[in-house]
Amino acid sequence: MIVETTADGVIRSAPAKLNLFLEVLGRRADGYHELETLMVRIDLADTLHLRPAPTGAIAFSCDDPTVPTGEANLVVRAAERLRQARGCLLGVNIHLCKKIPMQAGLGGGSSDAASALVGLDRLWELQTPSDQLAALAGGLGSDVPFFLHSPVAVCRGRGERVEAVRLGPSSSLRALWFVLVCPPFGLSTAAVFGRVQAPSRPRSVGPVLEALLRGDIDALGRELFNRLEGAAGEIQPALRAVRSALEAQQPALAGTLMSGSGSACLGLAHDEEAARRAADRLTGVLGPGLVRVVRADLESSPA
Ligand code: C5P
Repeated sequence: MIVETTADGVIRSAPAKLNLFLEVLGRRADGYHELETLMVRIDLADTLHLRPAPTGAIAFSCDDPTVPTGEANLVVRAAERLRQARGCLLGVNIHLCKKIPMQAGLGGGSSDAASALVGLDRLWELQTPSDQLAALAGGLGSDVPFFLHSPVAVCRGRGERVEAVRLGPSSSLRALWFVLVCPPFGLSTAAVFGRVQAPSRPRSVGPVLEALLRGDIDALGRELFNRLEGAAGEIQPALRAVRSALEAQQPALAGTLMSGSGSACLGLAHDEEAARRAADRLTGVLGPGLVRVVRADLESSPA
């Protein structure tokens, strides 16, 4: 994540994520599902502008009027919880520039919250220990802790137990290229999880992770998997047309998948040029404004 400290405050990017593998291991007593998922950070990002507020209030605005303000907003909740946990009385004016589609399975709201925690920790000079930041992040949402960590991770538990994946110096892969389709409809994470059945013999993240570590794009494409796809397709049948359009691009694309609880779907390309060609063809099929090319940088940069 990029943090910039200006005379005026802190500017921070909040990148989206893609799930390249997601298995549901079981339903827990608290209603959440036990997961094993492989996530990568991508270069599609929101931006948070944080300026000190002399009033001591937490004020939030957004360039997208459909984003909720007040308590329902995860960024506001992040600010309040950090302030409370650290006994801080300072205020902030937060402005969010929204680029990540909502209800798309791209982790936009979670990333905004993680970015707010880290950005406010700097703005308010709190120097919060990293384990306390991680605990605050996990309390805000299952995906939030991932965004405090490295660009590639396997996440377990309800998603909050993050194990960073580091590609060795011998790996030839520096980035992954994707064509990303964001349909004009969103999906509720709770509704999708509400319909999913945990399998009796869950798949393991092992093969997809090994393909990534080997830098084998074809194998990675074959191993892409998301247990939530069936449930998402039942709720929103139009998703099937999106998936079919992506699948029709194979073998130019190594594999296709829905990300997280949807509705965004990805195609893994061999390189940037292949991703751009597939994006042009998909725009011809699906219409303008839904298709973009995104990159996942696999090398660590500070969160
Ligand atoms: O943690 P978060 O607030 O993002 O989760 C949203 C909803 O998604 C939860 O209320 C729950 O219904 C569902 N969920 C789940 N199992 C997970 C993560 C989320 O059932 N591991």
